[in-house]
Amino acid sequence: MLAFIWAEDSQHGIGYQGQLPWHMPADMKFFKETTMGNTIVAGSKTFATFKRPLPKRKNIVLTSQDAQNFPADVIVCHSVEEVLAQYKQNPDQKMFILGGAQLFRDFLPYATDLYRTTIEHEFEIDTYMPEVDYSHFILSDFVEGEVDEKNHYPYHFEHYTRVEPQE
Ligand SMILES: NC(=O)c1ccc[n+]([C@@H]2O[C@H](COP(=O)([O-])OP(=O)(O)OC[C@H]3O[C@@H](n4cnc5c(N)ncnc54)[C@H](OP(=O)(O)O)[C@@H]3O)[C@@H](O)[C@H]2O)c1
Repeated sequence: MLAFIWAEDSQHGIGYQGQLPWHMPADMKFFKETTMGNTIVAGSKTFATFKRPLPKRKNIVLTSQDAQNFPADVIVCHSVEEVLAQYKQNPDQKMFILGGAQLFRDFLPYATDLYRTTIEHEFEIDTYMPEVDYSHFILSDFVEGEVDEKNHYPYHFEHYTRVEPQE
């Protein structure tokens, strides 16, 4: 499985000033549980938002920078093809593309699954999710999130699965 996992607001916004535009612990928990034990792939700017490689996951970063700029336990890739080669080495693995926008654009033809969290609110945004043609996917799971004192906005989780063979 080569999956996307992301959260977007009601305008498909995903980022603001290099960070997530919201604080939604329930989505962080979902992200952690879904990616744990698997491979994660981040663009260098998204990777920079983590203080360190995410524990108990194989961390891949996509960058044009020298590998020495990243921690030793991170796999540094310099092209989409290099990441896909990592995936093809073991297609039974679960590989999650974490973003940002350029990675979502570049990997979309290869994505088998999409894990989308929608936060039903309009935030201040400077980074958007590229357009996804959902007609290539079926909705295989939908869960309404619980609004509480820590998660202030209505939100829901969706899992889409590709209906035709990916590239
Ligand atoms: N809501 C969400 O689920 C979510 C998910 C992810 C990110 N975000 C947000 O989105 C923002 C960051 O996203 P972003 O789109 O600005 O940046 P990004 O995709 O995380 O990082 C961009 C960088 O990735 C590297 N890169 C991308 N494609 C490459 C390629 N084909 N070959 C080599 N290197 C490549 C380049 O790094 P170098 O410059 O090092 O060469 C590029 O500058 C932040 O605000 C973050 O919080 C939100």
